[in-house]
Amino acid sequence: MDDIALHSAFEPRSPRDAGVGPAAGVGGLPANELHVWAVPLAGDPEPFLAPLSAAERERASKFHFADHRRRYEITHGALRHVLAAYTGTAPAELQFRVGPRGKPYLDGSAAGAGPFFSLSHSGKLTLIGIATSELGVDCEKLRHLESFREIARKHFSEQEFTRLEALTETARLLAFYRCWTRKEAYIKALGEGLTMGLDTFDVSIDEEPRLLACRGVGESAEGWAMLDVSPGPDFVAAIAIRAAERAVRRFQLTLDA
Ligand SMILES: CC(C)(COP(=O)(O)OP(=O)(O)OC[C@H]1O[C@@H](n2cnc3c(N)ncnc32)[C@H](O)[C@@H]1OP(=O)(O)O)[C@@H](O)C(=O)NCCC(=O)NCCS
Repeated sequence: MDDIALHSAFEPRSPRDAGVGPAAGVGGLPANELHVWAVPLAGDPEPFLAPLSAAERERASKFHFADHRRRYEITHGALRHVLAAYTGTAPAELQFRVGPRGKPYLDGSAAGAGPFFSLSHSGKLTLIGIATSELGVDCEKLRHLESFREIARKHFSEQEFTRLEALTETARLLAFYRCWTRKEAYIKALGEGLTMGLDTFDVSIDEEPRLLACRGVGESAEGWAMLDVSPGPDFVAAIAIRAAERAVRRFQLTLDA
């Protein structure tokens, strides 16, 4: 009953069988590809625990709710297994550092040759994006949100809010989630977190994901691609990547027995 409905484009795959790794190209990916891994969080965390570092175990132990602890353990164990395949480094050997506002990056010997990554969890799913340029992923489980118009009024740019208001009542909630995840993906790509003014850039709110304009952060919208990577009918997800359009490959993580 905890199973998540994923789109069939997400092929069940072990990272070791995904055709990635140092031989595949710089960052462990074939040129111009961007990979998205969907990690269901409902299962047993046991297979994900072994590679976790002492700091990660410590952080996991501090979660008050067992569900949150399991989400953290599965997500970070999965991240290690996935990045291990791209870098050719053992999962437990990978090292991470965080940027000034908390964005994690590969560190140590895997950092130079390794890919960029970004992760997002929502509901019982984590999405991990892997690419050779800076990227941000955001995933949200669709749910009814009584106050979404107030949230949009407060956080969206004027142009985004005006476009949202012009839609019919039934189209608005999906457009709200598209806008939210695209904005969040962009600030996660920049690593800025919530210090960045959410009205300093515009994204599209219709089916076609686009970064439309950036104001005053030394970025130009032309330097970015925005992609819809929604993993299933109950989720909306976006990736913002500092690159021209990439071919997206989608996987559902399975680990070898
Ligand atoms: C922390 C933040 C980067 C994302 O938070 P979130 O959407 O609640 O959570 P997600 O699951 O999507 O992402 C969390 C992951 O992002 C990564 N992360 C943390 N800080 C980050 C940063 N500054 N930049 C990029 N990624 C970051 C981490 O890997 C984190 O996972 P972990 O804690 O298990 O290591 C931040 O943007 C935030 O708090 N956003 C709140 C939502 C909001 O108001 N959005 C407005 C959109 S209109």
